[in-house]
Order: sequence, then C-alpha cells, then structure tokens
Amino acid sequence: MSEENHIKATREAMSKAYVPYSNYPVGVLIVTDNGNTYTGCNVENASYPLGNCAEASAIASMVMGGEKKIKHIYVMTKNDEGGIPCGGCRQRIREFSDSNTEVFMCSKDGVQGRVNISELLPNSFGPEHL
Ligand code: THU
Repeated sequence: MSEENHIKATREAMSKAYVPYSNYPVGVLIVTDNGNTYTGCNVENASYPLGNCAEASAIASMVMGGEKKIKHIYVMTKNDEGGIPCGGCRQRIREFSDSNTEVFMCSKDGVQGRVNISELLPNSFGPEHL
C-alpha cells in the first residue's frame, strides 16, 4: 500500500472514532514488518476513564492478526500539526517496536512529521528488562 493509501485508511479510521465527550477524534494505522496494516480509533465512555485510545485499539487488532512488530504507526487528528501519542500510548507502541520504529504525525491532509519511538520515550522500560 502506498503512503497515500495509508493516509486514506487512517482518515477512514479517524472518521469512525466515538468521541462524544472530547470531540477529539484520533485515527491510527499500523504498518507491520510484514507490510500488513491494522487500524484503530478512540472509543470513549460515559464513565470517562474507561475510554480507549486509538493506538490501543490498533495494537489489539495487530495482535489479533498474529503480528507483533510495528514498522510505522500513523497517528491522525484534526489538528494541522498532526497527532502525537500520549504517554501511555508511547509505552504501548514501545512494547512492539524496535530501534527503527517510526511514528508519523498526521493531519487529515497527510504526514506532518516523523519521529522515532525512542525519541518519544527515551531510556524506556520494555520486555527485555523482565
Ligand atoms: N487519544 C488517543 O486516542 N490517542 C492518543 O495518543 C492521545 C489521546 C484520545 C483519548 C481521548 O478519546 C481523546 O483522544 C482526548 O484525549
């Protein structure tokens, strides 16, 4: 899939977000090391802390697909500067990352910036510490 198609699919994921409380939709698309893609959106709840981030739902879908290695992850919001994972999602992404894993910060128009997960979560804790 081309980057243009990745953006389209991420936008489609963002359009499915259930965000009646924050009105802040997030769409995520993961590209795995095998080149397969998995998407997710945020799903909020009247009991606010029970809401799920878009990254969490895309990661769950990837694991259900039998995959565990994130190559790229697109994070899209309505903001012009693009989406950026929250602290908790940085740790979620890190679990399935290696030193090359990149986060693509996207607005609805496309990729606005690229950053390595190790820059977002330096000196991080991970599976190899256990
Ligand atoms: N949100 C995500 O889905 N991913 C992030 O990394 C940042 C925050 C969601 C959670 C909530 O539904 C809304 O954005 C506002 O915080």
